[in-house]
Amino acid sequence: MTILVTGGAGFIGSNFILQWLINKNQRIVNLDKLTYAGNLENLSAIEGDPRYKFVRADIGDAEMVSDILRSENVKSVINFAAESHVDRSIASPEQFIQTNLVGTFNLLEASRTFFDELDGEAKSGFRFLHVSTDEIFGTLGPNDPPFDEETPIRPNSPYSATKAGSDHLVRSYFETYKLPALITNCSNNYGPRHFPEKLIPLIIHRALKGEQLPVYGDGKQIRDWLYVDDHCEAIRNVLEHGTPGQTYNIGGNNEITNLDVVNKICALLDDLSPREDRQSYVSQVSFVTDRPGHDRRYAINATKIRHELGWSPKETFESGLRKTVLWYLANSQWTENVTSGEYRQWIDRQYASERKAWQ
Ligand code: NAD
Ligand code: DAU
Repeated sequence: MTILVTGGAGFIGSNFILQWLINKNQRIVNLDKLTYAGNLENLSAIEGDPRYKFVRADIGDAEMVSDILRSENVKSVINFAAESHVDRSIASPEQFIQTNLVGTFNLLEASRTFFDELDGEAKSGFRFLHVSTDEIFGTLGPNDPPFDEETPIRPNSPYSATKAGSDHLVRSYFETYKLPALITNCSNNYGPRHFPEKLIPLIIHRALKGEQLPVYGDGKQIRDWLYVDDHCEAIRNVLEHGTPGQTYNIGGNNEITNLDVVNKICALLDDLSPREDRQSYVSQVSFVTDRPGHDRRYAINATKIRHELGWSPKETFESGLRKTVLWYLANSQWTENVTSGEYRQWIDRQYASERKAWQ
């Protein structure tokens, strides 16, 4: 019996696969298109492991997915594959529609057909777990209660709208076809192998290169940060013990403003890798034009997963951020390898000199 993971060469998917093979003696097939965000170097530690197989394919290729489901006798599908960067979805939304909506639809169709062919224990044990985001809920005011599983879905960016749409499709496949599907909605992850277009790895990378550290708007937007290993453990829990048809919110209980995140990274770097001139990395902070439609605050109420499945995060933001900075300091070659080619073009467009400085 095999687990099919999609998008396993990306940030969370690769951390999930590595953690899975440490904890379970169960085979994994990783189906990934290898977009700019997919990197097989993330999985070099398990190359040659007989429990692991990589297939380069698109989740939208229903025929290929069907072949894998049948030939590998798949027990569960975990869908990480997505276009995941909000800023890219604002600059060019189309690929988000293709992968996050059309791709998820095709993956669901292939899974439904396969599920219909199963019987006995294979059928009762089959699961489809869709990994989603807290961004589907939109934005919170300063005094609003955190998002729970009943919060209305009000996405504000093309990224979050396509993730919300994919969540609706997954839900409909449970209600209509009885596909045993589960959905997780998680807050902002951070940790090793995070692509340096996202805030935390971008700030670490640019700080060490002596570049400006771009903070959007006033930097007072709030995110709830969760260390990636904690997210992966939560997903394993939901897969094994969650109830099909249910959604589970996952969060770190770490609400913090972007500016505070940047300042904490700078303080860690000042300590672990001080600048030659002994000035603080904080001097590189630069306020730039805000992201259009920028959600002001996210916060997660994770009571349901804690009460029903006994999951809670192990890392605090302090311990997780320290581990993360240490990983990037020890793996500068990884960052060098992923920040060539397409990455440079994106950064040039996104942080172009004509982009108005805030201060
Ligand atoms: P990522 O961008 O690092 O990785 C995405 C992976 O999907 C890459 O390996 C890419 O090659 C692959 N992929 C993209 N399009 C594909 C396609 N059409 N077919 C097959 N593979 C494809 O993303 P991530 O940060 O690891 O996020 C993984 C999932 O978790 C996403 O669904 C995202 O919405 C969700 N999520 C992310 C966060 C976060 O903070 N990063 C938080 C909550 C939920
Ligand atoms: O909440 C979960 C989501 O978290 C996931 O679904 C997304 O896939 C993931 O990318 C992340 O989305 P965010 O938009 O919150 O993450 P990002 O790292 O892009 O930005 C975090 C915050 O930092 C956000 O308020 C925007 C701000 N920011 C980001 C960048 C890249 C800056 O101020 N400067 C920057 O250069």
